[in-house]
Amino acid sequence: MKLAFIGCGRIAVVHAESVIKYVSDTKHPIEIVALIDTNLASAEEFKNKYNLSCKIFTQLEEATQETALDSVIISVPHYLHEDLALKAFSQKLNVLLEKPMAHTLDSAHRILDQSKRSDNIFMIAENSQYWPEILKIKDLLLDGVIGEVVTAKASFRQSSDKDIFDSYSVLDGDTESKAWRYSLAATGGGITIDGGAHWIRPLRFWFGEIKETFCKFSYPHPLMEGESLSQAIFTFENSVTAIFEGILTEKTVFSKDYPFRITGTRGEIMVGYEGYGVYIFDQEHPDGFQLFDRHGYISSFYHQFHDFYSCTVLGKTPDASPEYSLGEMKVALAMEKSNIEKMWVTPHKLI
Ligand SMILES: NC(=O)c1ccc[n+]([C@@H]2O[C@H](COP(=O)([O-])OP(=O)(O)OC[C@H]3O[C@@H](n4cnc5c(N)ncnc54)[C@H](O)[C@@H]3O)[C@@H](O)[C@H]2O)c1
Repeated sequence: MKLAFIGCGRIAVVHAESVIKYVSDTKHPIEIVALIDTNLASAEEFKNKYNLSCKIFTQLEEATQETALDSVIISVPHYLHEDLALKAFSQKLNVLLEKPMAHTLDSAHRILDQSKRSDNIFMIAENSQYWPEILKIKDLLLDGVIGEVVTAKASFRQSSDKDIFDSYSVLDGDTESKAWRYSLAATGGGITIDGGAHWIRPLRFWFGEIKETFCKFSYPHPLMEGESLSQAIFTFENSVTAIFEGILTEKTVFSKDYPFRITGTRGEIMVGYEGYGVYIFDQEHPDGFQLFDRHGYISSFYHQFHDFYSCTVLGKTPDASPEYSLGEMKVALAMEKSNIEKMWVTPHKLI
C-alpha cells in the first residue's frame, strides 16, 4: 500500500500513529508516500514529528502525478469531504474518509453515488466500530450475561478546553480556520453529528437501527453555532430504549462518568471511566467486576486501519459499509428535526 494523508491536522496524527504501529507490528509493505495539506506548516510539522521521508503537496492531483500513491486517509473539515473524496475516487484511490460522511445529506448522497462508480475501497472512519470494549459488549449481550436488555445510556461529554484532539482550539501558528468545528456551515451541525456520532454507533451496533428519536437541543457553549447540548430518547427496532446525551462546554470540569451503561433484567454492563475496560454488576458481583482489559477509544484507530488495509490489499469486505455509516448522520439530523418540530422522528425516513 502506498498511502497519503489528505489533511494533516489533529486526527490525522492519531491515524498516523496507528499506521506506524501497524507497520511495525505486521511488517506489511505499507509506505507513507505523500502528505497533502493546504496549510504547509501542518504538513511539515506532521512530517518532522514522524521523521517521514515523503513529499508534501497542497493538491491531491500533484501528489498522484508525482508519487505512486494508491490509498488515502482524508481528515479535513466536513464541508471539504465531498470535494476531496470525489477527487480521490476519480484518481482511482482507496479512501478512508473521516466521519461524518459530509456536512449535508445531499453532499453525502453525492459521495455515495460516486463511490459506487469506483472499484476501489471506500470506508467511513467511524472508529467506534472497532473499539475493543464495544465489540466485547456485543458478545456479552449475545451471551445474555445481564439477561434481557431493558435500556441503555450513552453519555458523550467534552469540554473544548480539554478536548483530547485540541480540534476546537486556535493554537499559536494556526489559521483562524482551525476553529471550523464551531461553524454550523462548516460542520453541518453541532456536537451530535461530530463527536456524538461515536457514541451513537455503539448503540446501533448493539441494538440495531434506531426507529424513532425525541430530542431537545440547547446551546451552552458560547462559540458553538450548532447545538452544544443534545439530549435524546432513542427507541430501537428491537424495542429497547436508550438515553443519549452529548455535551460540549467551554471549561466544565466533569465528574467521573462512564460513557455507556446497559441495564438488563439481571445486571448492568458499563464501559469504564474515559472508555477503558468493561465492568459487570450482577448478583455475584454487586460492587462490580472488571471482565475486560483496558483498551480504550484511541486503540480503535489501529483496528480500523487493519480493516482498511485488509479490504484494500486482501479483498476483505469492510466491517461497516458506507451506507451503514450514513446512519449516524441520519440520526443526528432526525434529532435536529425533533428538536424543531417537538415530535418523534424516524431517522431512516430522512432522504
Ligand atoms: N474519529 C475521531 O475521533 C475524530 C476526532 C477529531 C476529528 N475527527 C474528524 O476528522 C476530520 C478532521 O478533523 P481535525 O480535528 O483533524 O481537524 P483539523 O482542523 O485539526 O485538521 C484539518 C486539516 O485539514 C487541512 N485542510 C483544510 N483544507 C484542506 C484541503 N482543501 N486540502 C487538504 N488539507 C486541507 C487543514 O489545514 C488541517 O491541517 C473531521 O471530519 C472531524 O470530524 C474525528
